[in-house]
Amino acid sequence: MGIIEWATSPLGQNVPIHIAWFLIWVALIAGLLFLIVHAIYIRYFAGEKQFVAGSLADPAQLPARIPRHSLAARLFHWIMAASMFTLLFTAFLPRVGVQFDWVTYHWVAGTVLTVSIIFHIIHASFYLDFWSIWPDRADLEDAWKRVQRFMGKSAALPRKFAKYPLENKLYHGAIVLTGMSVIVTGVFMMSRVRTIFFPRNPYLFGDMTWGLMYVLHGLAGVGLITLVVVHVYFAIRPEKLPITASMIVGTMSREFYLQEHDPQRWVVGPSTSSSSPAGRRG
Ligand code: HEM
Repeated sequence: MGIIEWATSPLGQNVPIHIAWFLIWVALIAGLLFLIVHAIYIRYFAGEKQFVAGSLADPAQLPARIPRHSLAARLFHWIMAASMFTLLFTAFLPRVGVQFDWVTYHWVAGTVLTVSIIFHIIHASFYLDFWSIWPDRADLEDAWKRVQRFMGKSAALPRKFAKYPLENKLYHGAIVLTGMSVIVTGVFMMSRVRTIFFPRNPYLFGDMTWGLMYVLHGLAGVGLITLVVVHVYFAIRPEKLPITASMIVGTMSREFYLQEHDPQRWVVGPSTSSSSPAGRRG
């Protein structure tokens, strides 16, 4: 039982046509297993998070609510989430027995996702702090300290996080890879079905290239099942609720900010100038 389904092309060539659909269940179970193991670890084994002491002279200078996500960033997040769920359900429900005319809903949601991601890339490059979501040297040094302490070795305490912990940055990287894979292949695949954008042209590529494209689309697609399950799990964990709420209201409390974040790595303007560039970022 392979992970790819094959067929014979009109030219007699053995070509891939798409992924084997049991991978849907593999991806779902992998996501559920992750959350069960993580929940048990946090409940029974993980100790209190420990960081090196903060270095802020006067926390009272900070605003009571710390700006975290601008309105544009929040709108992008929820539009992307709605299109992502629509894509997952329209793609995979028909494969597990729920039959409906899914293709039109799917490419429309795919178009919404594609446009929202183009917006996000421009917005993040020119209006947000672009580098805040990519791992830096301090993340790697602190991750190494955390691993050593986890193994019971003596190591200095890690610093508090910048705006995003390393785990969030790695998750974002995985979403970039899988998201770009479904988008690039999906845009080409739109030429195989009837859309409003361009005339249908199933002969754009040969059978082998089309087959590999469908396989990549499917593999990245099932990868997104696991990633979305893990993301929703973290969003509803009790200790993460202030972060989830900030994706709705845009801000988080000063106490939560000081507890987890290093004011020197994620700089927030003083309360009197909360509209300063650092305060507006997000
Ligand atoms: C969460 C993201 C996505 C998932 C999970 C997903 C999954 C899938 C799956 C499983 C199929 C069936 C492929 C097959 O039969 O082998 C499919 C088809 C298709 N996808 Fe996606 N997809 C996603 C995103 C996109 C995007 C962003 C676009 C467009 C930009 C897109 C456009 C299409 C089109 C046009 C088809 C139909 C191809 C055909 O029937 O010939 N998809 N998708």
